[in-house]
Amino acid sequence: MSRYWSDIVKQLVPYVPGEQPALAKPVKLNTNENPYAPSPRVLEAIRHELGETGESLRRYPDPVAKRLRAAVAAHHGIRAEQVFVGNGSDEVLAHAFQALLKHDKPILFPDITYSFYPTYARLYEVEYRTVPLTEPFAIRIDDYLQPNGGVIFPNPNAPTGHALPLAEIERLVAANTESVVVIDEAYVDFGAESAIALIDRYPNLLVVHTTSKSRSLAGMRVGFAFGHVDLIEALNRVKDSFNSYPLDRLAQAAATAAYEDADWLKTTSARVMASRERLTAALTALGFDVVPSAANFVFAKHPAHDAAAIAAKLREKEIFVRHFDAPRVNQHLRISIGTDAECDTLIEALKRIVA
Ligand SMILES: Cc1ncc(COP(=O)(O)O)c(C=O)c1O
Repeated sequence: MSRYWSDIVKQLVPYVPGEQPALAKPVKLNTNENPYAPSPRVLEAIRHELGETGESLRRYPDPVAKRLRAAVAAHHGIRAEQVFVGNGSDEVLAHAFQALLKHDKPILFPDITYSFYPTYARLYEVEYRTVPLTEPFAIRIDDYLQPNGGVIFPNPNAPTGHALPLAEIERLVAANTESVVVIDEAYVDFGAESAIALIDRYPNLLVVHTTSKSRSLAGMRVGFAFGHVDLIEALNRVKDSFNSYPLDRLAQAAATAAYEDADWLKTTSARVMASRERLTAALTALGFDVVPSAANFVFAKHPAHDAAAIAAKLREKEIFVRHFDAPRVNQHLRISIGTDAECDTLIEALKRIVA
């Protein structure tokens, strides 16, 4: 704390990202990254953008990411004007808090959810109320049918992996016409239904996506919002009052190529989902309770072993999983889906720990 800090900075509780260990070959199952490389077309596109000399880097990137937005719109069967692009979906979410969720009434989000939401709410002084998940860990739409300044949650939810069907999302969006509903679909490609299909009919719906999970581009920082042009304009107003060039040239080239290779997405996502079912079965056989997941991670708890202790013992073996020291979930571990070989290493280590 310093006397030079603004009052708002004194009150911030920053988000704590998962550890990025400086080890040669960690089994890294703690930040929901993809275990597979991005499409080979991504590398080609980056090389092409750089050329022989890196000449293009002299110039600023396209501030509106026109080619990228066109590719993404084509992939989803929507118009480019319905697409907003940001530096990772975290930045897109931040802009949504400031542009669309800051009103007189408190916004609503689940008590167990992505921990960046309360952080953004504090940063932008957005009042919020948390809504408890039901047992075991489901979002109940009826709980959100009450006056609010906005609603935000991930579908599938994080860190639980639980997904709601599209009809339930539509029920909320159709009823909640006085404020914006933000559906954060960071993990949607691993088995949930996207609400992008609804944006033409509901001007109060914003759907947020990322290239960090299913498209293996966490290192590039590219995220999107999809919605009515008026919502997109609000985000652009914030963006152009903050940073006109949020995406560099390589990120734009890489993400465009990733969206142009739908087959790669399909193949790698199917592999991750198959490994998730295999890992779920192996964890269950070791006595873990595993929440059924539609994401690239599982949320699991052992009835006889403390979660923090398990995470610490795994860490000694350079196996990283995520433990949240928070109410209701501090006996759970969130385990990202790795390759089958990584999952096997985890299971072998767990066998010894819970034996
Ligand atoms: C629910 C959810 N939303 C958004 C993000 C942010 O993703 P990125 O900023 O990499 O696009 C994450 C990352 O873990 C997440 O879990």
